[in-house]
Formats: sequence, C-alpha cells, structure tokens
Amino acid sequence: MVVPAEHALHEAIQVSPLILSDDVKRQKIENRVAKMRFSAAIARKIQDVFISEMNKGIHQQPSSLQMENTYIPELLDGTEEGLYLALDLGGTNFRVLLLELAHGAPIRQEVKRYYIGSELRVGSAIPLFDYLAECVSDFVISQGLQDVELPLGFTFSFPMIQHSLDVGVLVTWTKTFNCPDAVNKDAVRLLREALDRRGDTKVKVLAVLNDTTGTLVQGSTLDHNTAIGLILGTGSNACYLERADRVEHWETERHGEREVIIDIEWGAFGDNGVLDFIKTDFDRENDANSLIVNSFTFEKYIAGKYLGEVVRVILAKLTKERLLFVGDSTSDSLLTPGNLTTDLVSHIEQDSLDGGDSNTKEILGKFGIIPDEDDIRIVQYVCEVASNRAALLVSICLASLLDRIDKEQVTIAVDGSLYKHHPRLEGWMKQYISLLCTPGRKFKLIHAEDGSGKGAALVSAIAQRLKKRLQ
Ligand code: BGC
Repeated sequence: MVVPAEHALHEAIQVSPLILSDDVKRQKIENRVAKMRFSAAIARKIQDVFISEMNKGIHQQPSSLQMENTYIPELLDGTEEGLYLALDLGGTNFRVLLLELAHGAPIRQEVKRYYIGSELRVGSAIPLFDYLAECVSDFVISQGLQDVELPLGFTFSFPMIQHSLDVGVLVTWTKTFNCPDAVNKDAVRLLREALDRRGDTKVKVLAVLNDTTGTLVQGSTLDHNTAIGLILGTGSNACYLERADRVEHWETERHGEREVIIDIEWGAFGDNGVLDFIKTDFDRENDANSLIVNSFTFEKYIAGKYLGEVVRVILAKLTKERLLFVGDSTSDSLLTPGNLTTDLVSHIEQDSLDGGDSNTKEILGKFGIIPDEDDIRIVQYVCEVASNRAALLVSICLASLLDRIDKEQVTIAVDGSLYKHHPRLEGWMKQYISLLCTPGRKFKLIHAEDGSGKGAALVSAIAQRLKKRLQ
C-alpha cells in the first residue's frame, strides 16, 4: 500500500516528461537513464543508509562518514573585538581576508584573491604552502600589519582528522588538488612552517576549519537558529551542531560543552560500497575520469566539479548509441572528458525553466553541434535528470540531519557556486526536504555568502576567546 506521504514524494520527484517526435527513441532514452531516477522507496533506502552511516561514524565504527569533531563548541557571544585574519583554501582561488569585529559583528572587511595554478595544486605540498605563506605576507604587509600579532583561522576545505581546534591531519585531497606528500600531515603545521620560513609577519594560526563550519558560523550571525552549514560548490559537504554527549571522538579535555560542530564529510558517503545500489555506468565513467578515482563517491554524484561531467558522459553515450545528434557529426569536443562544465548545465536548466532553447543551442553550437528539436529536448532532459538527482540526494541527507538535530526551528546556511547559480536546486531542495523529514518540521535555507572566508575569521575569534578562558 502506498501511504500518502510517499505518494506526495513520488509525485514531487518526477522530472518533466520527455516528448520526442520518435516514441521508440524516447522509450530507449528513458530506459537508458532510468537508474538515475529514484523511486520514493529508493530515496527512503538511501536515507536509511545515510542515517546508519552517521550513527556508525559518530560511534567511531567503520563508516564512509567521518563525522569529524571540529572542537568548536560554541558560536559568537557578542564580546569578540579586534582584527582577525582568515585564509580560505579549497577551490582554485586562494583568499586572504582581514575582518574587524566589534561586539562580535564584522564592521570592516578587506579581501584579496590569489590564483593557484595547476602546477601548485598537483605536485609537492611544500611549494603550495610556501605560496600560501607568500600570499599571506603580501596581504599583511599591504595592510601595514606586519608587526601586529594577528590571530588567523585557516579554512582548509578537505577531509581532516582533527586532534584539536588547531591540528588537522589531511585524510585525502579532493576536487582539483592532489599533493600526495601532504596526506597524513597536519595542514596547520605545514602552514606554520611555511610562515616561519619567511618570518616576515606575526601571524598566529589559532584554528583550522572546514568551509562548511565557516558557513555555519557565518550563518549564525545572520540567523541565530542556524544549526547546519552546507556547501554545494566545486565540492560538497555539510556540518551541524551535535549534542556533545553523543560525540565519542574528543581528544582534548572537555569543559562541560553542550554542543559541538561535527563535520560530516559526506563527499565520501558510499566509498565503502553502501551506495552501490544507485551507481550507474555513467557514474563509473565519471569516477574513472576524475583526479582521484574510487573516492568521494557521493560528491561525484552532486557537486559542481562533477555534475557537468555526469551530463557529458550520458550525452556522449547516447551519441555513440545513435540516440542523439544522429543527423550531425558530433565534434570530438563533447566526447572529451571535462569539456562540459557545470555552469553550462545551469544555463541549460534555465532554458528548461523558461521553456526556451537559446542557451542550449548556443552551448551546443560552441561544441560545433547544430541540434534538431529532439536533440535539444534530450539534452535538456539529461540536464534535468542529473540535476534533479543531485537535489534529491542532498535533500535526503539534509532531511535526515534535521531529524537528528530535532530542534523546533533549524536554519541551514548554504554557500557554494552550484547552489548560487543553478536555477532549480534551491526550489527542489525546499520541497524534497520537507517531504523527507518528519512532517511539520520547520526549517529555512539561507544564503551565507562567503561563509568559508568570513567564517574562518569568526572561528579564530571564538578560538581566541576559548583560549583566554582556559588561561
Ligand atoms: C571536501 C570537504 C569540503 C567540500 C566543499 C569536499 O571535497 O572534502 O572538506 O567541505 O569539498 O568544499
């Protein structure tokens, strides 16, 4: 028997019908991507697996979810004053920020972006950290602050094992970075050593954090009900405020903390095989084309670094199977891994929303393809299917988190380019989360712009306050 809530979920997760002039072709294409579409029962099964992996992770049993303690037990209390520095490393840009706080709120901000070339992102970690230190001193000196002792929060948006608020041992690189000699090393130590090699500033690294953590903390300054930080950008991950008594991994002395931020590291969800029942041949190819294979299963289903590639892999397969672009000789360009970036998927999705085709035609034109009507509909359908799967997967995890947190009202602070630029994710997520969590739960999604940058400065202020209290 189908219960009404499941029926509503089933209805909500339908994508727009594919309407083609050739019905046999339509059927073949729908069958080809059928595994990308989940029934309500599959969605619930994923949810059960996620909840079980969270429980195992928090109890330190083998799990694909790290559930890492961040050692951030409280948020801002309004007493924070002064200058704080932040570094933000995770995407292709590296940013240095200076934040001036008065009564726990930012009153001035200076930011500078530095580009990190691929030769630094892939190779030895020493030149990378030397470059980070060079950027820090360039920024600090340009602010005339080289003789001032500046507390620094380091957003290092990669999975870490945290031994304390200022020790984060890199588990693996993700996204566009791969400097193998840094794996199993403390990112704070690598940074301090690089700063010491220069010796031209008085920067004190007080905290290392994840971008989701920064987003949660930044979100809490906008809305005090914020209890979840979410990143949907190049990579994806979330963190949340957990009850401290549920957390077993706690290496530093406890001081009666009531809550603590837990970094889930959900990008790795499924790396142990628990999600194999949803894996498609498209996902296998996407993984094979990625920088670090056989890792970050979940991230490769949902995040900005990969969504475009999932779409490209499907389109390339349909083309080879002579279901797409039949009248046109497809340029090799679309058959080349990495050539269809996620921002293009967002533009095509905008067409679907508007009932138009101008973006789709323009994008295909850049690939040297002149599509017919059916081609356009197929490309739009594939973009919708892949995007909708991502929205549903993220919503499944967020709904499970809301149930776990079990507070009357929870705000989810979100940042990341995919969330910002994709025209439909937010709408789908609102709908799916409310259908997937316990009925009646109140939640809000807010955009915490630049959480990973500002949040790091705010965390260094929290770290300084905690440190003083213990002295
Ligand atoms: C990293 C996370 C990070 C996320 C978003 C993932 O690849 O493992 O630590 O939060 O990307 O940047």
